Amino acid sequence: MKTPRGFFKPLAIGAPTPYRELPARVERMIHFVPPHLDKVRAKLPEIAPTVDVILANLEDAIPADAKGAALAGLVAMSREIDFKALGVGFWSRINCLNSPWHLDEISTIVEKAGDKIDVIMVPKVEGPWDIFYMDQLLASLEAKHGVTRPILLHAILETAEGVMNVEAIAAASPRMQGISLGPADLAASRAMKTTRVGGGHPGYRVIEDPHADGAPRVSVQQDLWHYTFAKMVDACAAHGIKPFYGPFGAIDDPVACEQQFRNAFLMGCAGAWSLHPSQIEIAKKVFSPDPAEVAFAKKILEAMPDGTGVAMIDGKMQDDATWKQAKVMVDCARQIAA
Ligand code: GLV
Ligand code: MG
Repeated sequence: MKTPRGFFKPLAIGAPTPYRELPARVERMIHFVPPHLDKVRAKLPEIAPTVDVILANLEDAIPADAKGAALAGLVAMSREIDFKALGVGFWSRINCLNSPWHLDEISTIVEKAGDKIDVIMVPKVEGPWDIFYMDQLLASLEAKHGVTRPILLHAILETAEGVMNVEAIAAASPRMQGISLGPADLAASRAMKTTRVGGGHPGYRVIEDPHADGAPRVSVQQDLWHYTFAKMVDACAAHGIKPFYGPFGAIDDPVACEQQFRNAFLMGCAGAWSLHPSQIEIAKKVFSPDPAEVAFAKKILEAMPDGTGVAMIDGKMQDDATWKQAKVMVDCARQIAA
């Protein structure tokens, strides 16, 4: 595995990288917008204060003949809205690294919006080499345009090869902010027989064995994404970056969206994508810990002030491990309240 390349400015050996000193942010939803549509941009002053992250999408869902207009729209967004003053993250999803558009996009973003953009989301990342390439390109463009705050990278896990290499991707650069599951492209890459953007499938189930008395056999729908998801969460946690659930395409099914987001939250994810304004509130609700759970977690911390020993609370045994879980919950709630 190659040594991750850093920011162009040489760092003293042993000094912490500048990347990890960046403040931790609340990123419960990454709200996707198509920047080439004037009517969508016109609504942003209203939408931006309600989200944690706005993402100017240049990739899939933007028609090929509108890629240039989308890039121009991104630059306009960076000038029209003061994301920093609002405390809202400003990200972009560029086109994939073998597309005809990505080079112009990265050059323009760093030159025209390099001091505004927080994170570049890179689709269809297949291995650490894609991140090394982005790292070098950004280091060079940041140096050229005097951008002193490093732009971070977020990979979408949406090819079978990417899934195989997820640990190396997570470890590839100190610029790595996180990884999202991209279930739609991943389904295509695996030749799954589905036509959906995320979520479950009614045909993917486990059925009980036949009953001797002929009683009806119960069958339960299973989670199509569990294996990939767990692998991604472990890779991210092991390398100190954030895992995210990606898109949920059934905008007309808020119940299933909420359940998919909740599974992600319980598994350790920091947030999910919102593809429609109606998904913003779902993500906000799901990725903010439940006040009753936070209150219980606080009881655990109070019962074991130094984090060791054992305590019984409401009939449940607590020890060092539950103390750590409680701290995750309380820290998350504090960060959101701050
Ligand atoms: C997202 O980009 C996906 O393919 O699911
Ligand atoms: Mg995709």
